[in-house]
Amino acid sequence: MIRLQVQWERPGGADGLYTVHAAGSLMAGLWWADDAGPLADWTAFAFVPIDPAGRGVFRFTGGRAVPREATHIFIRAVTPDMAAEEAVVPLPDRWPAPPMEGAVRLGFVTDLHLSGKPWQVGRALAMAGTGGGVLCAGDMVNDGTPEQFALLRRLIEDRLRPETPMLAVAGNHDLPLLPDTGDGYYALQERLLDRAERLGLAVEWDPSGAWAVRLGDMDIIGLNAAQPGRRLAFQRQGQLPWLDRHLTDTAAAWHVVLCHGPLLAHNPQRRRPNDMPYFSRDGQLQDILEAHRNILFLSGHTHISMNCPAGCVEVDRGRNILYVNGGSVRTTTLKPEETLQPKEWTEGNILWLDLAPGRAEITAVSPASGKRIARGYYRFDGEEDDKPE
Ligand SMILES: [Fe+2]
Repeated sequence: MIRLQVQWERPGGADGLYTVHAAGSLMAGLWWADDAGPLADWTAFAFVPIDPAGRGVFRFTGGRAVPREATHIFIRAVTPDMAAEEAVVPLPDRWPAPPMEGAVRLGFVTDLHLSGKPWQVGRALAMAGTGGGVLCAGDMVNDGTPEQFALLRRLIEDRLRPETPMLAVAGNHDLPLLPDTGDGYYALQERLLDRAERLGLAVEWDPSGAWAVRLGDMDIIGLNAAQPGRRLAFQRQGQLPWLDRHLTDTAAAWHVVLCHGPLLAHNPQRRRPNDMPYFSRDGQLQDILEAHRNILFLSGHTHISMNCPAGCVEVDRGRNILYVNGGSVRTTTLKPEETLQPKEWTEGNILWLDLAPGRAEITAVSPASGKRIARGYYRFDGEEDDKPE
């Protein structure tokens, strides 16, 4: 007989303590479920070792949300004889999220590191392109060569519908040591912004290399924070003063900022006192963002798995600012490692961003399996309703 006790910390959030009682079992897996069983195509959110007393405790951290369609938790416990026992347990409370009326879906990809084998990158672009546009936070190719960018252009043409805009910024791997021969990163950026203009979108090009594109009531902003030599820094002057002016002058439901490196103050992986920022002018950029509201800051670079316990999305509720470090299309890293972790927790991801005024839903999906990543699901509902149904 398996039992599960759940103590949540915040309405609608998944954080809290999950205590499994499964006498005679070695371990138990936990999946979001409905009364019929686990939700189709979602990964497990925990694998819990069971002690000799038959008890296993999982503390969920990182600010993830419970999927809308989940009403139960499915548990599968396994004994040393490999016998499995299963149970479907109702959630202790339900806080139904209102539907995202009028939401726009954007696909987000980062750290594609395209070199030779285009399978995973092609799948990732196709999955990200099912919405109204594709955003990329850099490291699109691995060595910044014209050949790699040519391969990437072909993939974009093959895997994205012609009416889907794609917008990108440079990562440190997009700008190699070699001088730019005119068919590297900046040629691709120009091509993508041209494509957006041909699709009828308003494009603002700044001489600093930063850009902004209007997509419905979303303001998409690109900052190029990579320099040749694989360094992360704002190469050309003027991007940050331009950003401050642009945020002041532009009204939008969300300002979606693409920047390859995450900010030091909003990265759970760098929390020790002497940790270095990822790029120059980290503090200046942070101050500019905090002087404004309704910002979704999207970064890559770290290749940290969406499954990492600390989480990959931080929320500044007072300012409606979300900081998203979006994993990697390539194999990701789990820090710290857990006792039990399946391989699928590191197989790479894209994100779907469902955005409506004041609200956002973020869903990580694996290009390899097509599954939604349970630990990569976040929901920001603006004003919180803390009464259960
Ligand atoms: Fe990278």
